[in-house]
Amino acid sequence: SSLDENTNAHHDGHDSNLDSKPISVVELKGPQTDIPEKKYVLYAETRKIRLASGETIEAWTFNGQSPGPELVANEGDLVEVRLVNKNIDSGVTIHWHGVDVPNGEDGVAGMTQDAVMPGESYTYRFVVKEAGTHWYHSHQQSSIQVQKGLFGAFIIHPSSQHETKTMDTTIVAHDWITPDGRNIPALDTADTFQRKMFNPGTPVRLRLVNAGNLTRTFSLNGVPFKVVAIDGYELNEPGTLTTSLLRIGGGGRYDVEFIMPDTAVTLAMLMEGKPIGIVYSPDGHGKRNVLDEGEVLDITKYGSPAQASFNTSTVFDRTFTLILDQTYFGVYNGEAGQQWVINGKTFPDTPTLMVKEGDLVKTTFVNRSFADHPMHLHGHHVQVISKNGKPISGSPLVLDTVNIEPGETFEVAFLANNPGLWMDHCHNLDHAQKGMTMHVAYE
Ligand code: C2O
Ligand code: CU
Repeated sequence: SSLDENTNAHHDGHDSNLDSKPISVVELKGPQTDIPEKKYVLYAETRKIRLASGETIEAWTFNGQSPGPELVANEGDLVEVRLVNKNIDSGVTIHWHGVDVPNGEDGVAGMTQDAVMPGESYTYRFVVKEAGTHWYHSHQQSSIQVQKGLFGAFIIHPSSQHETKTMDTTIVAHDWITPDGRNIPALDTADTFQRKMFNPGTPVRLRLVNAGNLTRTFSLNGVPFKVVAIDGYELNEPGTLTTSLLRIGGGGRYDVEFIMPDTAVTLAMLMEGKPIGIVYSPDGHGKRNVLDEGEVLDITKYGSPAQASFNTSTVFDRTFTLILDQTYFGVYNGEAGQQWVINGKTFPDTPTLMVKEGDLVKTTFVNRSFADHPMHLHGHHVQVISKNGKPISGSPLVLDTVNIEPGETFEVAFLANNPGLWMDHCHNLDHAQKGMTMHVAYE
């Protein structure tokens, strides 16, 4: 079949003509010939998925499941992932959210590659440097494709990690939409409370991934816990928490650790109406006990043990101020009504942040709208310099998705060290689709 011909063919992406692209994709790709430490094949295909409540959803899946298979690698590995599109008519790509790959491997349709059409395949190859909890998703019509299920977790273990008896479990939050338009929030495919058995005394690491558009609030009840990483970055000396609520913006990740007690622990995703979640208990029974009040953990009080790259006295080579807002005027992408703007404009009229390699770049985000905007810059991590004018002192807070709530101002900085043309957009993908998208370009 044509599928097989394609899949045998190449290491270096498919053979469409990339000459007219604004950047030289060939120079900006990962190693093309070395032997990969990890190899995966992901088949994009439609599939009916059964939710825990019994309802069936028409999903778009990787390998017949959503979330797709969890990809696992070690820091420093060369990873090869072959994407095969079986039957997603609009084409598919894969973006590695949180993993700073060379530009040509970034998986943005129309920018770093063409969408992979049904019967075609495309091979990504890159070395993973960022240990932590990351994820992958299609970046062709992402607001539709991610919602329909084309995403999965991507876990990169630090080279120093030898702890093997830890229960390491990933939980991906996402919203399903039924054919009649109902929104069904789910953790993996569980839209109800689930039960899991863990032996008392077991160290547990929960990796919470928010693959949905909306900010989600999680609580953990029944055990003291620590938030040990945010967006994959280990935190420095995380404190022990009991009643803190964890608020994770779209695209963001929190890693939580606790020692399994001999009584039940309830993880809940809080929502108006009824929460959903998981009860962990020694015997699989245990009573659900949702904590729904508490203070939201202020992540600006934490930081990673990494060396701070920037502080409030850093002299930046480039600074940009970006006002995030909404508008109700005009037609965008054929749709009248609400749009999301950056400095008053919708994409592609939004600013392009021009940088050159080696620049220290500061971007100030001001949210004047009524919604959260989790701003995600591809290909780079950013360090938060200040929030609402208050400098973040102590350990640096490093993120790839900065959730900016209404009225908030964040100054974030990055080193321009990954040449190419990059997306910088709101990870409420409906907002991105309705204008809140811009580019970072290297001159
Ligand atoms: Cu996770 Cu541009 O996306
Ligand atoms: Cu937004």
